[in-house]
Amino acid sequence: MPPRDFVEKAYGQADPRLARYVEQVFAPEDEVLAEIRERSIAAGLPAIQMGVFDLLQVEVLVRAVAARKAVEIGTLGGYSGVGILRGLGPDGFLDTCEYDPKHAAVASESFARHGFAARTRIHVGPALDHLPKIATSGPFDLVFIDADKANYPNYLAWAEDNLRVGGMVLADNAFAWGQVLNAIGAPDATPNADAASGKAIHAMNVRLASGGRFRATMLPTAEGLAMGIKIR
Ligand SMILES: C[S@@+](CC[C@H](N)C(=O)[O-])C[C@H]1O[C@@H](n2cnc3c(N)ncnc32)[C@H](O)[C@@H]1O
Repeated sequence: MPPRDFVEKAYGQADPRLARYVEQVFAPEDEVLAEIRERSIAAGLPAIQMGVFDLLQVEVLVRAVAARKAVEIGTLGGYSGVGILRGLGPDGFLDTCEYDPKHAAVASESFARHGFAARTRIHVGPALDHLPKIATSGPFDLVFIDADKANYPNYLAWAEDNLRVGGMVLADNAFAWGQVLNAIGAPDATPNADAASGKAIHAMNVRLASGGRFRATMLPTAEGLAMGIKIR
């Protein structure tokens, strides 16, 4: 039987008032991030940028490992990129990969408008085509994964090889909208359109948790933020 505390303490908080409280007190989205989010939507990009509070957590984690060199996989309009760049500090550099040229153009504008253009390189096209070339600038302090879910295991494998020991990998959507439950055959799970994503993300989570290269955990954000520190 699990210990009593385990049973009673929910993983994350189900009370939405607490989420509102935290957003009110910690003010995660300032006018720069709001401008990027609104301009991205106005340009026709899907509103699939990170949650406001999730991005603040990423920025603080980037600061916690004193990261200077980062790789992002999945740029969209530059919303999370700006959060990461803030965390990297004035001498930091971000290589970011984006499949869609339209998204990359919006991100380019975001980085230019807000003073980050000189510290950012956007690689347009499939990330797996660009990562071998990016690797020549490594090792890196941070890899942030937030693109096509089928490739999450491949992106984690790249992070294993190209992070420094002590560097951090972060992967958004690590609950796969609940479909990780389907991936492990949970009796009450129902496969849906995200089932394939669930299998791939589950494979990444297992590798991150028990592959021996990271000490890892899952931050209980709304969508799950998998996090690992490279130990060997
Ligand atoms: C969830 S969005 C990224 C959101 C962004 N990290 C943010 O919070 O602002 C995922 C992005 O990954 C891009 N993408 C999808 N497949 C990709 C691939 N194979 N290589 C690079 N980017 C890809 C999509 O075009 C989309 O812009």
